[in-house]
Amino acid sequence: MCGIIGIVTGHPVVTGLISSLKLLEYRGYDSAGIATMQDGQVWRERAAGKLANLEKKIKDDGVSEGGIGIGHTRWATHGAPTEGNAHPHIVDNVIIVHNGIIENYAELRDELIKNGANIQSQTDTEVIGHLISNQLKIDSNIETAVQTAVGRLTGAFALAIMIKGEENLLIGARKGCPLVVGIGDVEGHYIGSDALALSPFSRQIIYLEEGDFVFATRQNFRVFDQAGTLVTRDVNHVEVQSATMDKGNHKHFMAKEFFEQPDVVQKTLSHYLDMKSNQVTLDSKLDISKFERIVMVSCGTAYLAACVAKYWLEENVNMSVEVDVASEFRYRKPALNEKCLFVVISQSGETADSLAALRMAKNKGCTTLAIVNVPTSTMAREADIILPTFAGIEVCVASTKAFMCQISVLAALSIGLGVQIGRLSHADATSMAKQLAQLPRLINDCFAVEKDIVKLAHEIANVEHVLFLGRNTSYPIAMEGALKLKEITYIHAEGYAAGELKHGPIALVDENMPLIIIAPDNEVYEKTRSNIEEIAARGGDITVLTTQKRAKEIQKLGLKAIALPDCSSFLAPFIYTVPVQLLAYHTAVHMGTDVDQPRNLAKSVTVE
Ligand code: M6R
Repeated sequence: MCGIIGIVTGHPVVTGLISSLKLLEYRGYDSAGIATMQDGQVWRERAAGKLANLEKKIKDDGVSEGGIGIGHTRWATHGAPTEGNAHPHIVDNVIIVHNGIIENYAELRDELIKNGANIQSQTDTEVIGHLISNQLKIDSNIETAVQTAVGRLTGAFALAIMIKGEENLLIGARKGCPLVVGIGDVEGHYIGSDALALSPFSRQIIYLEEGDFVFATRQNFRVFDQAGTLVTRDVNHVEVQSATMDKGNHKHFMAKEFFEQPDVVQKTLSHYLDMKSNQVTLDSKLDISKFERIVMVSCGTAYLAACVAKYWLEENVNMSVEVDVASEFRYRKPALNEKCLFVVISQSGETADSLAALRMAKNKGCTTLAIVNVPTSTMAREADIILPTFAGIEVCVASTKAFMCQISVLAALSIGLGVQIGRLSHADATSMAKQLAQLPRLINDCFAVEKDIVKLAHEIANVEHVLFLGRNTSYPIAMEGALKLKEITYIHAEGYAAGELKHGPIALVDENMPLIIIAPDNEVYEKTRSNIEEIAARGGDITVLTTQKRAKEIQKLGLKAIALPDCSSFLAPFIYTVPVQLLAYHTAVHMGTDVDQPRNLAKSVTVE
């Protein structure tokens, strides 16, 4: 989602602003801009589209450097992604960039217009600029004026603000969206959407809390909480390597990231599995005997990880498991209490709906557990228990390695809780842990199917619709395959439970409908095989992802099959994820779409 950078150093800031914006690109954006101040003058440049457009404008128009500046990558919410709606916005003396959504923006806008304001853009951000500007006319104390004006906003926001004539003052505020402060390695201060954005300048990071304001100069900074009290926040030493933003030998981050899967799964599993004794170790605060049910909530691919885990937890822990998407869950009235273990799963740890669901569960007395990839994220800080994933920075908007690490943690969790509750014997647990330990090798072996997948991808690139089918844990993997394909190729795809097809979607099947059927050789294979026959009878264009032995049988029927390494039923979701990731990737590459930053999407979805 939008990315924010602010710099106050007294030295030229334009190069720094642009390099930070480049580090924020992965979050997803559709326009960008910067503003600097020097000698009483404000200089601003904005452009629709990629950062390259902004850089070109800066070059063409001639840079006017300053010792203070703010920059922004915008993911449009209110108003089209045009130059006029791009940030920074300037209202009188106020220069502002914003991430988030102001919910009461329409009423504030009406009020401002009634009072004679000349609103130039369609954004909610400009409204904040007017509020601050108006408040500064009646309160010359910048700190209180900004706090009063921002106090009128409802919704979620992170802000970076400069005031014309105040060339040694950078202001930040956050509520609902993350914002960090960096203490410069040399003199100066920085504010940014995440520690990565500040990595070229600072390792000393302060994570602002909900409702915080920061007023930073070159020499020092002051943080106020939402009550307006001066507070001290911890300074964290953070080693974020901007070098990890390198694609290595790969053409795209997505390829780099899915080829990293054997390593990051190994790294994640080794945090939970003792590879010698094959024992699972979980956080000692986690005591399953306190709970009657498990509720798992997340969004997108992380939601599909929860859907996989439902099968494992129900089987291994014998407890009722409810799974929901956060955007629905948070507006339902679910029965939650202290007997409920609430699990949130998130790569970023900042997804607005998942975070709201976590807070709701906490308020209702649930014990909250977060499976997150960013250990410094808001969810990691707010949950009672954290089970980290170790995927490393995931840059591509389409999640691959983070998903694999999420299901790794969830598999280990189901074993650990199964033993705790007495449903799994130590022998069962040891056998399952041994299976998990094979994953890095097996995932690596899966890449052998790449040639076959490239062939299939070239066919898929020509179609408009694809159906993915699966049963049991292959059902969420079918949905994940469809999500990946939609996301980066813009081809319409759906993931269905194979047995559900005849209750409606089979009407879509003809020779022009490609169906990718995920059919590991497990306890439901024969059921899926019957579904394959039903579809074949109706002329569907079938490709079955299955084992070598089953692939041969399928090919004898005159259907396409791609053989994956043999694996246990427990490991199937890991193994069958690889071909669907590869399929989306190679289809996108063949079609020439923007693999790493697909249109309209953001990496970290900090608005609801
Ligand atoms: O950061 P999160 O894991 O909370 O993000 C959740 C979804 O936005 C994310 O998984 C999204 O669906 C991906 N782009 C899918 O590839």
